Amino acid sequence: MERIDKVISRELNIGRSEAKTLIKQGRVVLNGLPVKSFNDKLDEEKDILSVDGREIKLRKLVYIMMNKPKGVISSTDGRKTAEKTVIDILPEEMKRKNLFPAGRLDKNTTGFVLITDDGEFAHRILSPKNHVEKEYIANLDKPFDDELIGAFAQGVTIGEDECLPAGLEAVNGDHKTARVTIRQGMYHQIKRMFKKFSIEVLELKRIRMGGLYLDEALAPGECRYLDESEVDSINQNNLR
Ligand code: URA
Repeated sequence: MERIDKVISRELNIGRSEAKTLIKQGRVVLNGLPVKSFNDKLDEEKDILSVDGREIKLRKLVYIMMNKPKGVISSTDGRKTAEKTVIDILPEEMKRKNLFPAGRLDKNTTGFVLITDDGEFAHRILSPKNHVEKEYIANLDKPFDDELIGAFAQGVTIGEDECLPAGLEAVNGDHKTARVTIRQGMYHQIKRMFKKFSIEVLELKRIRMGGLYLDEALAPGECRYLDESEVDSINQNNLR
């Protein structure tokens, strides 16, 4: 059971106070009766909710894009280490049980983290065999050359791990800012790939998952729900 104002705020992508105003104005109807109190709860499995006569399709599963700030870990439980997680910093109205980040970014990596309660979807987009690309911008301590582009394209071996072919291109003339595209999520993968060639990654930001870019309107730490077509586009690598 969830509070109606919270559900409306989530489903219509509006603030909690706006949702309360809709209720106050008598525009929200639950199972045929106007909702009188913000505290009323609904059962997403069987209740029918409408606003201004339009039925709200109650979402069973949610997909949230976060622009992860530095210093926050991509985990559901930071209690062991007393660290803040991406789940801790979600706005209260977005919190619900079973949310987790689909894939991990290092504590000092920033950018696109997908938070969901859809385990199957997360598995699908993270599995290397489904080829869902993840694109990053990396700031490096020294420039890279064409040889490294070739090595990344071949697939770098780090220790026991054989990385799949990865894309590498210069973002600007000095070759110290790189666009890196991978389709795996091995531990510290990009940092280790560069490290093998004695290059240090100073900053790393994920800007794309599949066909969906990080929304540049999101400041670090901010997030928003994805709509159905955005969720679908994660499964496709249709670029720019
Ligand atoms: N590769 C890394 O090294 N770190 C990340 O956070 C993501 C990819």
